[in-house]
Amino acid sequence: MFRHTLLLGAIALCLLCHALHTEGVRLRSTIQELKEDGQTKRILTSLKSNSIEMIAFGEDSSSWGQPYYAVHQTTSGGPGDNYYGLHVTTDVYSHNLKPGQQTSTAIWVNHVGNGVKSSLNTISIGWHIYPEHYGDSHPHLYTDWTRDGYAQTGCLNMDCPGFIRANGAVIAPGDVIHPVSGVPGGRVQNITLRLLKDKTSGDWWVYYGLNGIPTGVGYFPRSLFTYLAEKANHVAFGAFVDAEKALPTPPMGSGVLPNGGKGHAASFTNLQLIDKDGNNSPIKANLPELITKAKCHSITHIDHSQCLYGGPGGCV
Ligand SMILES: *[C@@H]1O[C@H](CO)[C@@H](O)[C@H](O)[C@H]1NC(C)=O
Repeated sequence: MFRHTLLLGAIALCLLCHALHTEGVRLRSTIQELKEDGQTKRILTSLKSNSIEMIAFGEDSSSWGQPYYAVHQTTSGGPGDNYYGLHVTTDVYSHNLKPGQQTSTAIWVNHVGNGVKSSLNTISIGWHIYPEHYGDSHPHLYTDWTRDGYAQTGCLNMDCPGFIRANGAVIAPGDVIHPVSGVPGGRVQNITLRLLKDKTSGDWWVYYGLNGIPTGVGYFPRSLFTYLAEKANHVAFGAFVDAEKALPTPPMGSGVLPNGGKGHAASFTNLQLIDKDGNNSPIKANLPELITKAKCHSITHIDHSQCLYGGPGGCV
């Protein structure tokens, strides 16, 4: 029970930080839902001071609602919680979003550090539609990282030094992904993402493949990180959406709830963990879920290394 609460705290921390980072200034609105433990209280404190700064800069930090999550996550912080990578295949869809809406499907490797927010190390990669950032409503490949809970370090894509592109990479972080899946029930396009720690260099490599085998597109040097320089102790995959309070949440995945079934709802398939030596093992057992509001966006149990996720949105 105690451990469960702590775990929820840890993942809430990571996802919250991720949301805060990608959304810049939307700080205050995400505070409400995460109040279970001391760790969260510390976050609240730092968020409040950030909010004050933002208001001082004339930003309206309270205009965005809370993010809605539908994710699976491992346990974190225990002696058995050693992770060196994650591999998934997931569908990519296009939706018409407005500025003030974001939809994201991602995988995370984290080290929750010593429990203080400023020690959080995170890498996430995935696709998102984020008009405010890109000026369009296409899905983009994205990368994101930090080694200090997004206090001073890290950024999206190539917006700051960090990610190193590989020679001849088929795509760069921030690029549009196309083609994408059409209407639910139509042809489904998928991307395979692989994020793993290279055994020799210790760098975290990103692999990407559109409808096929992923190839290396670049890496985050080991030296960028503190705790993640050694290993991850928490991994997660899933999706989140967010919107300004005046707007409904946008679609997640294909825009169809998991009970729409395969081919309609978006999927994660071929879910695999990667060990220290770079060997894959299928994720067979279910992992804990974090679902903010199943009526709007959800994710199914893991079955045969697969699950379905998504939803129409419309939550306000
Ligand atoms: C991904 O797309 C390719 C090409 O359409 C297809 O052959 C493959 O089965 C798809 N993979 C999954 C897991 O849906």
